[in-house]
Amino acid sequence: MEYRKVNDADVDSWKEVILIYSSALKQISTKLEILNDEFQHVHSYNPIEHIKSRIKTSESIVCKLKKNGYESTIDNMIRHVNDIAGIRVICSFTTDIYRIAEMIENQSDINVLSVKDYIKSPKSSGYKSYHMIVSIPIYLSDKTVDAKVEIQIRTVAMDFWASLEHKINYKFETNVPEHIKKELYDCAQMVSDLDAKMLSLNEEVQQISQKNM
Ligand code: GTP
Ligand code: MG
Repeated sequence: MEYRKVNDADVDSWKEVILIYSSALKQISTKLEILNDEFQHVHSYNPIEHIKSRIKTSESIVCKLKKNGYESTIDNMIRHVNDIAGIRVICSFTTDIYRIAEMIENQSDINVLSVKDYIKSPKSSGYKSYHMIVSIPIYLSDKTVDAKVEIQIRTVAMDFWASLEHKINYKFETNVPEHIKKELYDCAQMVSDLDAKMLSLNEEVQQISQKNM
């Protein structure tokens, strides 16, 4: 294995990169919390169940660059790795997903770079989630820099499925036996059915409570 000598300037740049991405995560999390609080105030209802965020490990960043044929430089990381800062928003109902995505889009300082709707077009594995790559300005003492953040929005049920599927893939190092893949696909179908049933049940209950007001 080849090792490249890392100098002090590299370490400083790396620390600055992490600082910028951590700040981006803090900003987006705060924005989402404010939107959730406002929603609670106006509609007496919280679209967000919970939020998880993480900074990708340096090993994982280097691995992704290598997989895509890029040299491990800080410039390449910023340019080609869109999920250094990742945030996952978990909500109760599929309708909440689109509500949250729209609220994010409407924030004037957030720039939506790309969207992948794996709810309307699920992956062949059965994976469902709504993905956005956004950029947000970070105001440092002497400059402003844009940082990219990957936002994944999904229901509790979709998240349950995705975390089990991820664990299974990890265990089998992607050589998952066919019958397990098939079972997972069937489970994804059940997740969709459950999400649809929970949504219609909730809508019915809301209509009843509105009538009784
Ligand atoms: P990555 O290179 O894996 O980040 O994917 P991508 O750049 O093609 O983007 P995509 O929007 O497809 O996936 C981004 C992230 O979504 C992944 O890093 C995973 O966290 C998650 N994801 C995508 N597909 C699946 C899947 O089939 N199963 C699970 N459990 N998670 C997935
Ligand atoms: Mg990823």
